[in-house]
Amino acid sequence: MTILAIETSCDETAVAISRNGREILANEILSQSDLHALYGGVVPEIASRNHIQAITKLVDSALEAASLQKSDLDAIAVTYAPGLIGALLVGVNFAKSMAYGLGVPLIPIHHIHGHIAANYIAYPELRPPFLCLVVSGGHSQLVDVRGYTEMQIIGSTRDDAAGECFDKVARVLGLGYPGGRALDELAQGGDDAAYDFPRASIEGAPLDMSFSGLKTAVINLIHNAEQKGELLDRPGLAASFARAVSDVLVPRTIVAARALRYQAVCVAGGVAANSRIRRDLEIAVKKEGHTLYLPPLALCGDNAAMIACQANFEPKPGPLDNLACNAYATMPL
Ligand code: KG4
Ligand code: ZN
Repeated sequence: MTILAIETSCDETAVAISRNGREILANEILSQSDLHALYGGVVPEIASRNHIQAITKLVDSALEAASLQKSDLDAIAVTYAPGLIGALLVGVNFAKSMAYGLGVPLIPIHHIHGHIAANYIAYPELRPPFLCLVVSGGHSQLVDVRGYTEMQIIGSTRDDAAGECFDKVARVLGLGYPGGRALDELAQGGDDAAYDFPRASIEGAPLDMSFSGLKTAVINLIHNAEQKGELLDRPGLAASFARAVSDVLVPRTIVAARALRYQAVCVAGGVAANSRIRRDLEIAVKKEGHTLYLPPLALCGDNAAMIACQANFEPKPGPLDNLACNAYATMPL
């Protein structure tokens, strides 16, 4: 089964082709982040317009990279939720037209199912059930992955996502957008005990998280220092912040892993690229005797390879079954 997948939920236009599930033949990504950096965040209209401009060329280059013709495709997959509605609509409408034109099925994919599936590409032996920590720009969730399409959120953030928190702190430090990676780089060699930031917990909900207090504490500290003309230990601040985020995520992952008693613990989403979180998880999960699956950095952020991979595990629709598919800004897991 050869599947071409399209991902346009945010500011990356991505097209990939998979064969028999986990084998990726092409993985094309065009990031628009430079265009949005001017505004300090994603501007939805700019994202939609640039997806329209990029999508046809990316489909062509994916086919070329895989040495395939459109007629070789058995199905078209597309991210249909959640995400920026105008951005999603570009991918969904393009995918619908392509599926209809080729007479092949359309497979709609939930973006977070896709992020989780990035692990199947990196680890061919991995099969559900497992626990997955999903940490992206819009989501921070602990997910009980019971099957390829059957999953339940067992813990989540009550306010900001971890990625959002990284991006806001990075912006206040003048590191540009999206700043998670730059903040990670700044933290290298920094003293993680330079600043003492809060770690929130929610009474009666041990697996839930909160990052807004941490975000406010860091931003207030930076602004206060600026107003007083005090010099900040920027690497120390970045390292102390990353440590605080990790101190929220890692112990909850361990509590969830103990409760579920699965052998495998996976991580997914853009923030899964963070070096501090990866290191802390490796140590903590190993100590518990579980196996940790960390996707390679290239598969942590948004991409279409993960969507193509997940499509292989979805129920197979008929050629006309999903042509009324719509895009949705929000969608339960
Ligand atoms: O999964 P993703 O590409 O998009 C969403 O679905 O949201 O995640 C993007 C997020 C951004 O907030 C970005 O700053 C963050 O992932 N990110 C990182 C790192 N690389 C990307 N955060 C912390 N450390 C990193 N190395
Ligand atoms: Zn994502």
